[in-house]
Amino acid sequence: MTLVRFQNIMSNEIAKRAFISRPPEPPSSVLVGDPQKTVYIGTTKMFHVPFAWTYANLTNPHMAIVGITGSGKSYFIKTFLIRAYYVWGTSAVIIDWAAEYKPWVKQSGGTIVSLGRGDFINLLDLSGMKPLDRTKQIMNSLDLLTDISEFPEQKRLTEEAIEQSYTNKGFNVSEPPLPGIEVPTLKDVIALLEEKLQDGTYEYPAELENTIYRLRQFAREGEDYFARKSTIDLEKLAGSGLVDIDLSGLPDERFRALAALFILQTLKERMRFEGWSESKGLKTMVVLDEAWKVASDEKSDAIMIVREGRKYQFGLIVASQNPTDINEAIFSNVGTTFIMRIKFEKFINYIQGSLNFSDFIRSEITKFGVGQAAVEMAFQTSLRFPETFILERIQGEEPLYVYTIDLTDVLTRAELSANVVQRNYQFEKDELRNKLIDYNVSSDNIDSIMGKFDAQQRTMKVSELMSALEDAGMPTSEMVMFLKSMGIEDTMISRIMTYAGKNG
Ligand SMILES: Nc1ncnc2c1ncn2[C@@H]1O[C@H](COP(=O)(O)OP(=O)(O)OP(=O)(O)O)[C@@H](O)[C@H]1O
Ligand SMILES: [Mg+2]
Repeated sequence: MTLVRFQNIMSNEIAKRAFISRPPEPPSSVLVGDPQKTVYIGTTKMFHVPFAWTYANLTNPHMAIVGITGSGKSYFIKTFLIRAYYVWGTSAVIIDWAAEYKPWVKQSGGTIVSLGRGDFINLLDLSGMKPLDRTKQIMNSLDLLTDISEFPEQKRLTEEAIEQSYTNKGFNVSEPPLPGIEVPTLKDVIALLEEKLQDGTYEYPAELENTIYRLRQFAREGEDYFARKSTIDLEKLAGSGLVDIDLSGLPDERFRALAALFILQTLKERMRFEGWSESKGLKTMVVLDEAWKVASDEKSDAIMIVREGRKYQFGLIVASQNPTDINEAIFSNVGTTFIMRIKFEKFINYIQGSLNFSDFIRSEITKFGVGQAAVEMAFQTSLRFPETFILERIQGEEPLYVYTIDLTDVLTRAELSANVVQRNYQFEKDELRNKLIDYNVSSDNIDSIMGKFDAQQRTMKVSELMSALEDAGMPTSEMVMFLKSMGIEDTMISRIMTYAGKNG
């Protein structure tokens, strides 16, 4: 027998029934926090509540950020890092794939570490770890970045030689290192393998040769970025304010990924010793922007760190234009995800599949402008409100100002009236400043150039800009590169230079 009963019900009762109607935003008690203990991000779209982020009630301080190019990922990260520093004294280590953050860090008075341009990492550095554990990590990185897993014998030979190199220096491989002993380098490891080959007693010389060949890729003269004594002390860097590890000087993606993995492994080990506690706060944020190799593979330390949640005193920020470059495990384990504008169906499908937000949020995400974001947070206790909401805009440190370089003075009358060539180039304020910093224009000169723009509604004729750069001491060859970096075509550049009296 079935019984159907009708009853009158108040709308506030209905609202509590999450399956019928879900409130569109978390309550302000969750969104708004003590300004001394939270980082302000921006106001919510529906009720214009100021949203301030804290790791306090979240499952962990790790973050994932996705969105198409120009959607505002890096802008958010910079804003967040600056505020986290003021609120919690949080330092930042930016693993900077393409030197995207370098000018900003330079400008903010942070530290730049340039691998491949004078700075080195010794892959065998222990920073307190037992040699056996370090060896496992190195093998794990080689697994991820080379084909070594397909050759078990070569893997065994490599592992054995790394351990032997520690023993030869006087380490006990299964004990934490005693201070004062010099660590071996990859070159010592290769030397051991070469000895073995010369010895002639090993059964499979071809395996040995291939093992040596693989390791040599990381130890060749001029490319021995990981096979020399380290010039950086990561332990110190993790508490030194803003630090940019510029990887753009390394020759390829494999080298960059190896550096990124090494940095993550070392920080993880150091901070595992200290252990996480609420009172110690958030010591460091580690930023991995567009580090697809490191964020996508199941075996990567980035995934381990996020899975292990609050175990360490640092939070990991993983950002990418392409959500499928970020392993599913990262989305399902980070405490906070910021979803900025996404265009492609398959990318939205992937992320909606991991986070389960509504179709309403989905359709909003495709329409976002610069700086808009959907935020998804995972709370420690399960709560009765939607965990995904929309931010009107990430409120950054600086408003968006567009600066225009006007080319009309070098265009012919015919070109102007036919409207066939691009007559001006526009840049956001920071972008223009960063380019000037990149070309070593001094900060006084930058200020004076920006001042000239500001005095003319943020617009300057290209010839005027050229003479300002000349006054700032920029050589002609650099001017050409500078114009190229702005996206101006070669034929136009030579006209600009001729106009400025630079080449005949
Ligand atoms: N919330 C915001 N308010 C004002 N300006 C913003 C905001 N977010 C981004 N911008 C501006 O938009 C431009 C693009 O932003 P940003 O460099 O952060 O994009 P991105 O997502 O990191 O792109 P890419 O994937 O290419 O690195 C920058 O000039 C930045 O200053
Ligand atoms: Mg970016």
